[in-house]
Amino acid sequence: MEAVRVHRFGGVESLRVESLSAPAPSATEVLVRVRGAGVNPYDWMTREGSGADVSLPWIPGWDLSGTVDVVGSDVRAFDVGAEVFAMLADQRGTYAEYVAVPAANLVPKPEATTHVEAAGVPMVALTAWQALFDAGRLRPNQRVLIHAAAGGVGHVAVQLANWVGAETVGTASGANRAYLDTLGLDEFVNYREQRFEEVVDPVDLVVDAVGGETFVRSLDVLAPDGHVVTLPRPLTDAESELLTERGVSGSYPVVQWRPEQLRSVVGLLDDGRLDVRVDSVFPLDDVVSAHERSESGHARGKVILEP
Ligand SMILES: NC(=O)c1ccc[n+]([C@@H]2O[C@H](COP(=O)([O-])OP(=O)(O)OC[C@H]3O[C@@H](n4cnc5c(N)ncnc54)[C@H](OP(=O)(O)O)[C@@H]3O)[C@@H](O)[C@H]2O)c1
Repeated sequence: MEAVRVHRFGGVESLRVESLSAPAPSATEVLVRVRGAGVNPYDWMTREGSGADVSLPWIPGWDLSGTVDVVGSDVRAFDVGAEVFAMLADQRGTYAEYVAVPAANLVPKPEATTHVEAAGVPMVALTAWQALFDAGRLRPNQRVLIHAAAGGVGHVAVQLANWVGAETVGTASGANRAYLDTLGLDEFVNYREQRFEEVVDPVDLVVDAVGGETFVRSLDVLAPDGHVVTLPRPLTDAESELLTERGVSGSYPVVQWRPEQLRSVVGLLDDGRLDVRVDSVFPLDDVVSAHERSESGHARGKVILEP
């Protein structure tokens, strides 16, 4: 099979497309023919050596959608040909034509989506869900500010927050205003022209998919007892002290594999209440362009590889 491997941490030049033997599934695993592999910032951060703690050589990628090709002898939940998707809980790597996956980690693919669309869903949908509802405890009629609202996590977060009846405010560049309108965003802030903390009324929750200075400025728009969920990196001691000084709270959740949450997301996709937006699709051979697009920081929705 064709797969991408990284033998040395570094820039895009460390992405190698290689011919490997397809893995053999154990009794509790299935072999999935990957039809789409979602690209996430964590992939290229790990490629650079600053993301997950992986051993080399490493096949990148956590998100996949595909078809069951071989079923382990103890697997009852899936038959050959079943259409499935998942966020892998370890470092098996989805930038490959085949991946052996524990059957317990797989969820039936939404019927309403193609494999390319479905491959973009798991990591960002679980991150958005856990940021809004687990860490953020968002309730109907609360106000939530979502930074990078047009990005992978952001565009799902906007839709999930609308779904529970929250009032949504989102930051993006002007080119994304019309797109975010189509998602039902209530209030748009062009971060290149306006300082959001000067124009946004207090919010109960901030989902910060940008970090750094954006995180610090977000404290100015939080209502008393508000909460900020920051996604790019853990809070520093200085940032934690700042939260206490301001009488607000914050957290850095790391996305967890929760199949029951992904099943709820499937329901929303199949009911037409959630859309996944594909920014661009690249063949495995052009993995360099896929990483470059994601690293640009300006994807609208998801970058996908099609092995
Ligand atoms: N903690 C976790 O478990 C976890 C899980 C998933 C993701 N993350 C992190 O969350 C972050 C976002 O991930 P993602 O997949 O959503 O990234 P992404 O899809 O690459 O984000 C791209 C988006 O960022 C927007 N953007 C760039 N600079 C901005 C700014 N200053 N203000 C507002 N929007 C801005 C761009 O909008 P414009 O083109 O309009 O500028 C673009 O739509 C990354 O740091 C990622 O590592 C963390």
